[in-house]
Amino acid sequence: MTVWFVGAGPGAPDLLTVRAQRLLAEVPVVLYAGSLVPPEVLAGTRPDARLVNTADMDLDAITAELVSAHASGNDVARLHSGDPSVFSAVAEQARRLDAAGVPWQVVPGVPAFAAAAAALRQELTLPGVGQTVVLTRTAARATPMPDGEDLASLGATGCTLVLHLAVQHADRVAAELLPYYGADCPAAVVARASWPDEVVLRCPLGELAERVAAAGIRRTAIIVVGEVLAHGGFADSHLYSAARDRIAAPQPPGPAPRQRRPGGEDRLTKPAERSEAPAREAMK
Ligand SMILES: C[S@@+](CC[C@H](N)C(=O)[O-])C[C@H]1O[C@@H](n2cnc3c(N)ncnc32)[C@H](O)[C@@H]1O
Repeated sequence: MTVWFVGAGPGAPDLLTVRAQRLLAEVPVVLYAGSLVPPEVLAGTRPDARLVNTADMDLDAITAELVSAHASGNDVARLHSGDPSVFSAVAEQARRLDAAGVPWQVVPGVPAFAAAAAALRQELTLPGVGQTVVLTRTAARATPMPDGEDLASLGATGCTLVLHLAVQHADRVAAELLPYYGADCPAAVVARASWPDEVVLRCPLGELAERVAAAGIRRTAIIVVGEVLAHGGFADSHLYSAARDRIAAPQPPGPAPRQRRPGGEDRLTKPAERSEAPAREAMK
């Protein structure tokens, strides 16, 4: 049987992926990090599913649950907030499962930084302004940052910074970044993105600490720092540029294919639209 590490998304139950929903409806055992995965996300689980909140369990206890489910012939969904690829502690569980010979797979989820960007209605990469996003966190006593990943080193890059697990240290974040970004650099905080009590604030970096304190934000927040947060003033992307060569290869007649554009989203086009569609896109 398999342990599925499942990204539960940022909180809103309808931001679970379809794959995650299907899996949750099938598996007999579900482990979830109760501090960040709301009960609504578990609404689609089997009525007879064993639901285990791991908020107060240590790694040994969690591993024992996973291994025992496997020994009983049960698939397990192990839910983590956001996406399992960042700050999820999946790697250490997976290492234990490998040692125990338990197979595991990963189902991706919507990460908190993407939900925060959506709440801000903000693209984090803008042509000519910022094309690099650094997903990072602040050091904690138990989790120091590796050499070269301190805020000063990251700040020296001038890239757009997206900080997790940092809002309780907003004063330190601002103080360490000010020499690199300046007091006027735009910053934003999104607390509990996608939850009913979501809070969004935008301010200059120089006011970050006082604004976070005034809003009473202490946890479950993303901080974004970078010039991309200042709207306007950026060039159009090459993707939809009228100057871009769009001579398409002749298409065979038939059902509308799904077209994938480099860096763009899928869209369905009817055969008759195929030759004019790019020109119309460019005029938008
Ligand atoms: C242990 S990390 C989990 C990150 C997660 N794996 C992800 O993909 O977003 C927890 C941190 O993620 C951020 N976070 C998680 N959910 C959030 C949400 N709904 N809104 C804002 N920040 C969130 C906060 O910085 C929080 O301290």
